[in-house]
Parts: sequence; C-alpha cells; structure tokens
Amino acid sequence: MFRFFVTCARGTEGALRRELAAMRIAGAKGDRGGVWFDGPLEMGMDVCLRARTAVRVLMQLAEIEAGDGDSLYAAARRIPWRDWITVQSTFAVFANVKDTPGLTHSGFAALKVKDAVADALRDALGARPDVDAKSPEVSIALHLAGGRGGLFLDLAGEALHRRGTRVAMVEAPLKETLAAAVLMLGGAQPELPFIDPMCGSGTLAIEHALATRGIASGIRRRFGFERWPTLSAEARAAWGRLREREDEAAARAMTGDWPPVVCADVDTGALTAARQNAAAAGMDDAITFERADVTALERRWPAATLATNPPYGERLNPAALDAIYRGIGRTFERLTGWRAIVLSGNPALAQAIRRKPAVSHRLWNGPLEARLLRYDL
Ligand SMILES: C[S@@+](CC[C@H](N)C(=O)[O-])C[C@H]1O[C@@H](n2cnc3c(N)ncnc32)[C@H](O)[C@@H]1O
Repeated sequence: MFRFFVTCARGTEGALRRELAAMRIAGAKGDRGGVWFDGPLEMGMDVCLRARTAVRVLMQLAEIEAGDGDSLYAAARRIPWRDWITVQSTFAVFANVKDTPGLTHSGFAALKVKDAVADALRDALGARPDVDAKSPEVSIALHLAGGRGGLFLDLAGEALHRRGTRVAMVEAPLKETLAAAVLMLGGAQPELPFIDPMCGSGTLAIEHALATRGIASGIRRRFGFERWPTLSAEARAAWGRLREREDEAAARAMTGDWPPVVCADVDTGALTAARQNAAAAGMDDAITFERADVTALERRWPAATLATNPPYGERLNPAALDAIYRGIGRTFERLTGWRAIVLSGNPALAQAIRRKPAVSHRLWNGPLEARLLRYDL
C-alpha cells in the first residue's frame, strides 16, 4: 500500500474526487490543489491512465520535516532509494518549497535531495546513477510547505494534461485537464448534442467526445512509471491488463452511436488546429467543424450542452471584447432549453450575459483566477 497525492488545477479538487470515487477509490481526501488516497501501485497507474482532471500522480516515499538543507539531506538519505533506482538508471529531482525560511530556493532543495540520493546509492551499490533533468527514468518530487511535506515518486512523468494528442496550438489553449474539470463541474450532458462556438484548438469538444465515449484520457501516451528500472514483473503484468481493458473499451466505444459534437470558431486557423487535434485524438469522425460567429448561433436542437471559453481580453481592445460579450448574451436568449457552461477570466462577461448563473465556481487557469458559470437557459 502507498499513499498517493494526485494534483489538479486549484478549484477543481471536487471534480477529481468525483473521478476517483467513480474509479472505486475509497477514502480520497481533498487538499488544496489535489487529492490524497491510499492504495496499491496499480491504483496509481490506473489514475494516470483514466483520471481526466489529474495533473500528476505522486506516490509518497516518506513524510519529512526539514527546516534547512542539512535536515532535508538527512531525511532524504534515510529513504531506501535502491528499491527504485539502479546504478544504470537516470533520475531527476523537482522541488516545490514554500514558507520554509531555511530553504528559500526550490533549486537548492532539489540539489540537497539529489546529493542524498546519489550518496545513498553510492554507499549501497558502489556507484551513483546519472541525473537527466530532461527525460529521467525516475522523477522524484519534493513538496515542502512550512518545513513539512513529503518526498514522492512521480508516476506520470510528463504532466497528464499532455494526452499525446495536441499537435496544433492556438493562442491561449486550455489545458486538457482543466477542460475536463470544466465539463464535469459544469454538468455537461453526455446524452445531448454538444457545441463549443468559440472552440479555439478544440480542447473542450475533444475532451467531451472522449468522456462521453468513456475512452481513457491517457490511452495515447506513455507514463513515467513504465520506465522505472525496478518495476516488478507483477506490476508490469498488472499494467498490461489495465491498458488492455481500456484499449478494448475504446474499440467498443468507436462502434457506438453518439450525439453530435460541434466545434465552431470565426478563425479558420483555430478550426484547422481543432481538426488536427481531434484527428490525433481519434475523434475527427466524432466532431464536425464550422466557421461561424457566436452571434449567429441558432437553436438547432431543442436541448443541448454549450461549453466555451471566450476570449479573456488580453489581445482585444475593450470595445471589441464588450461587443463579443454582449453578442454572447444575446445568443443565449435564443437557446431556450440549453445548458451553457462558460469558463470566464473576465467579470465583464457575466455582466454582459445579464442573467443569474445556476452555478458560479471559482477556479484557477494556471495563475489566472477564472470563473466557471453555468446557465440553464
Ligand atoms: C480563449 S480562445 C478558446 C481556446 C480554446 N478553449 C482552446 O482550448 O484552444 C477563444 C476563441 O474564441 C474565438 N472567437 C473570438 N470571437 C469569436 C466570435 N465572435 N465568434 C466565434 N468565435 C470567436 C477566437 O478565434 C478563439 O479561438
């Protein structure tokens, strides 16, 4: 059994907890920026593969108290690193340290842990492994706040918003993990048609198409733990079974009959990017693409989910932005029976929509505070 800390965008912990509960992970506890749970290694692997809102899956090796470099070194040195790292493997340490007066630089803290790992392995095995900061086989994470925290192994490797399917970018794309959380917290309805009328690179629509089909979010990528040199044959076999289960479920989903999913945008470059990303995710046949202005959107279905992330305003002048926001408000007046889920980084949008949201939820898009608004029109 291990203790895991699964990180997510701040404000989306509730969505992650719901996902873990749906995966039958009992006793998960929310914390700021993530959720804790206890379970075997395979459970952590499964979270990497399936939890749409999870950013990193960290497996705790030790709880530590360290107020300065020496005590951090000593705490890190006590961990039996040879269980996880061999002389031939590469490793790296990533540190996030705050409110610890004796350790004011995360880089210095990472260096102390790296020294402890290297010294412990040299003592145990007669040689030390190499550090590879770019593509380590074993990623070690240190989290320390107020002198307390933990040392973890990072199961995911590359952060989980990287689904391995983003091939084309636009300005200000949403992270896939945040898009998934917006759809979950906003209550996107899987049984109804779906449209994002300001789709950019298509993140919300692609995440929605994958989620309604129950296709695992990590099905097209690899994970850090797959490269661990000491991963046992049993663990590899368990991982093989998990992948096989999800591959089979995805193949079955492709033969189903699903409600329409539409990506629209005024910008042809955005639509090209959305199309390419959908193809990389295997969802190009599931989504239709339209060049259209949001102000021209009609009520083409009696009930539907609209989910969108309108421009925030950094790149538009205030008058142009105001016109878009008012246009969205007028469009919503026509969409009776629809549910509209809006991720807004600008309070002016809620004012322009001029109706009371059924849900108004604060979350963070990276460092930017944003609001998830749901309107039942
Ligand atoms: C913040 S971006 C959306 C990013 C997207 N969620 C993603 O993950 O890539 C806003 C998008 O709104 C589009 N847009 C701006 N004004 C529009 C309008 N009047 N009608 C339709 N789309 C519009 C822009 O072209 C841009 O692609």
